Amino acid sequence: MSWELAGASMKLIMAGMEPVKDAPLAHYGYWRVGGPADLLVDVHDSEQLAAVVETDLPITMLGNGSNLLASDAGIRGIVVRLRGNFRALAFRDPASPGCLVDTLSSDLGIAVIGAGMMNSAVLRKLNKMGLGGLGCLAGVPGTLGGAIRMNAGTRMGEIGAKVAFVRVMLPNGKTANLTPDDIDFQYRRATLPDGAIVTRVGIWVSRAAHAEEREAIQEHLTYRKNTQPLDTPSCGSTFKNPTGDTAGRLIDAAGLKGYTVGGAQISEKHANFFVNVGDATAQDLYALIKHARDTVLEEFGVTLEPEVHAVGDWPEGSWPL
Ligand code: FAD
Ligand code: EPU
Repeated sequence: MSWELAGASMKLIMAGMEPVKDAPLAHYGYWRVGGPADLLVDVHDSEQLAAVVETDLPITMLGNGSNLLASDAGIRGIVVRLRGNFRALAFRDPASPGCLVDTLSSDLGIAVIGAGMMNSAVLRKLNKMGLGGLGCLAGVPGTLGGAIRMNAGTRMGEIGAKVAFVRVMLPNGKTANLTPDDIDFQYRRATLPDGAIVTRVGIWVSRAAHAEEREAIQEHLTYRKNTQPLDTPSCGSTFKNPTGDTAGRLIDAAGLKGYTVGGAQISEKHANFFVNVGDATAQDLYALIKHARDTVLEEFGVTLEPEVHAVGDWPEGSWPL
């Protein structure tokens, strides 16, 4: 380990964290590929996060790894996961202005959610309280922080449309509260300030939305189960849909269902889901992604744009495709 990494590691330990050296990324991402991260650290509060930022080492945020393609060479610097206080849920209630409360007594309010909380846990809690608003994330694996960064969504909508505010920590260690006007939410992408780490998210929730969403959520989950290969490791849709068409239809029409490179395969069930059928490497997945993209371009003249985020050290010229 370099002196720089050893020094950073010591600082993180002094701040109460337990950095893991050479953490194998294949253990953390949905695709189960990727080499070692120099350091991986679970961060429990804003003070600890500020200590990570102060090291000045490159930071890669790891939500739940459900949209990450980590390279076989691994990631230099620090990979950060949000835990502890970043997994809390409270409310801003018009009936109790100025403070956060555990339950919402009004019909409409803001759920204040730690960015490390899993979407599924948020939906479960809101449902128990008779609250809705985040039905668009039903069946989307991952954390709230990852959902904001990706502007995650489904045919039920996108998270960007539900946001009241997003709190971030900037590379200078300062925090900022962003309003929806400060963020450019596009299809599967949100433009945040460079290097911003999402720490907390405010989402509009209401009792009316709960009643409205319930049936649609069930229908949507059934649709997903019937159309997506949810029992095999993937990162969901590999490519974004091009305007006016879908990546799944195009890859399917190019005859690529079942096409395999090493341990990586284009799913027989849904052609935009690329699955790890055993011992795929990140390079296998890269080759498969490139092949699908090149074939669709050649056959139909459409350029597909990856939805998944490639992280870590890749051979020069690999990305963008
Ligand atoms: P990660 O994959 O860990 O990270 C994604 C990006 O966000 C990375 O660039 C990462 O660095 C960044 N990031 C993560 N946390 C933070 C943070 N706190 N601050 C700043 N940046 C951060 N997506 C959809 O939109 N709709 C779907 O229907 C859908 N279905 C899926 C189904 C399956 C089976 C799978 C495996 C994936 C699916 N996805 C879907 C993709 C994925 O779940 C979403 O993009 C999800 O929002 C990613 O969240 P994550 O926490 O796993 O983020
Ligand atoms: N199709 C094919 N062959 C296939 C797969 C799909 O012809 O192998 C056709 C279907 O018949 C359908 C069309 O393509 O007519 C669209 O397919 P589907 O309804 O499965 O939706 P999608 O556009 O592929 C999108 C999101 C998913 C989200 C679902 C459901 C994108 C890139 N994908 O998929 O999000 O879960 O709608 O809401 O926008 C993700 O982003 O990771 C993701 C999984």
